Amino acid sequence: MYIVQVASECAPVIKAGGLGDVVFGLSRELEMRGHAVEIILPKYDSMRYDHIWGLHEAYANLTVNWYDGAIPCTVYCGWVYGRQCFFIEPHSPDNFFNRGCYYGCLDDHLRFAFFSKAALEFLLKTNKHPDVIHCHDWQTGLLPVMLYEIYKYHGMDTQRVCYTIHNFKHQGIAGTNILWATGLNRETYYFDYERLRDNFNPFAINLMKGGIVYSNYFNTVSPHHAWEAHHTDISYGLGETIRKHQHKFGGILNGIDYDVWSPESDRYLPYHYSPTNLKGKLMNKKALRERLWLGHDNKPLVAFIGRLDEQKGVHLVHHAIYYALHKGAQFVLLGSATEPGINSWFAHEKSFLNDNPDCHLELGFNEELSHLIYAAADIIVVPSNYEPCGLTQMIGLRYGAVPVVRGVGGLVSTVFDRDYEQYKPEEERNGYVFYQTDNQALESAMDRAIDLWYKKPKDFRQLVKQGMTYDYSWNHPGTAYVGVYDYIRHR
Ligand code: ADP
Ligand code: GLC
Repeated sequence: MYIVQVASECAPVIKAGGLGDVVFGLSRELEMRGHAVEIILPKYDSMRYDHIWGLHEAYANLTVNWYDGAIPCTVYCGWVYGRQCFFIEPHSPDNFFNRGCYYGCLDDHLRFAFFSKAALEFLLKTNKHPDVIHCHDWQTGLLPVMLYEIYKYHGMDTQRVCYTIHNFKHQGIAGTNILWATGLNRETYYFDYERLRDNFNPFAINLMKGGIVYSNYFNTVSPHHAWEAHHTDISYGLGETIRKHQHKFGGILNGIDYDVWSPESDRYLPYHYSPTNLKGKLMNKKALRERLWLGHDNKPLVAFIGRLDEQKGVHLVHHAIYYALHKGAQFVLLGSATEPGINSWFAHEKSFLNDNPDCHLELGFNEELSHLIYAAADIIVVPSNYEPCGLTQMIGLRYGAVPVVRGVGGLVSTVFDRDYEQYKPEEERNGYVFYQTDNQALESAMDRAIDLWYKKPKDFRQLVKQGMTYDYSWNHPGTAYVGVYDYIRHR
């Protein structure tokens, strides 16, 4: 099959969170199975150019109609660890992707609607006929709409679209000027509750809703989150739309790329290790402690890695730091915050907590350091408010850090409580789960994990090994996506 991924991120060149990991990891898995894969991305000025090989101009004459005029674009081609990527650079007076950031601009809706249109225009002009176009998140929600409402009439009528929703919170709720800008200007038709009109704001369109309505199949990133989206109000107002289109909806658990995330071969780790030989893990713990000026006492190391966002349960993350210290453990946090309030809250904590030899908070995005923390940690906390899938618990498991998670979304699909899980035999349990959002719930799970480390080290080691031998690679999800592609291609 010939598959084109269209997304706003692809690790490690463009990565703000798990979306980037997924786009790269899934593409690699599909290629390993013999499928042809290409990835279309925006060409941001702030992406990591040092991870792209052979970047060159591939197509210079792309013109994309926009409002009443047209914007010329240059398309570059380059390889990211073997994956062929096309980067679209619009020459617009608004400098769409030269803003020193990936997201967070007031005209994000316009920027990514333009990108979606430019991706289709590129496929059309270069005569590429993928069997499946795989779109991700709200940024590309308008692509299937334009494919079936505009580009179909230019001969693009064989392509099918798989649309993956990684986060329902960000839906791309935008003004109707986008219809006009993209050429979807028959307002009465598209500005309609059955199609693009937002379910709650009657004056806005919803790009993610467009992706749901117009794609041939759509999914979220774990079976449990799909269940939540269907049966609860977790989808931020899209529940009714999801139920209406449930015949083409599913939940496919993400994988992690074992080429990138393997303690046996990780290029960022000073010491390698495996479930049968954990010596290297201890040495990495020592290395991290030296690097962060932490004490070397015999204590468990608890870690948090992730975006510092309301989604991730920041109030519980904050409590976990103090509770770990209270329980005689060390705590390391690596977090990136986009919200100024949350950022200054943690910056304030950092200003005095980092004087404590048992605590280190690192604010910002640091890929290399994240690998060392996963490898050094004994316990990883993921107390999310909601979590479509979550990769950090899966990476933690692979690196022998026992996850302590809140039982929501993908965390339910991947972490099984050592003491209370009813549906798995003891030898298949791998962490600790709590359910409520209060401090006490978190404490009870942290108690159990930290006490096991101190009081029954052999049992703790056994739990670590059980977690490390779980298969959360792209193997199973790869089969699931190929199944979906095959299904929609023949319809
Ligand atoms: P989300 O996509 O919601 O942010 P995931 O758990 O799916 O959460 O994926 C997060 C990914 O981003 C993981 O690969 C994690 O290691 C990485 N990550 C998150 N925050 C940071 C950070 N501050 N520095 C380095 N890597 C980070
Ligand atoms: C989103 C979700 C996260 C998921 C990631 C990759 O950002 O918040 O749970 O793992 O996408 O699918």
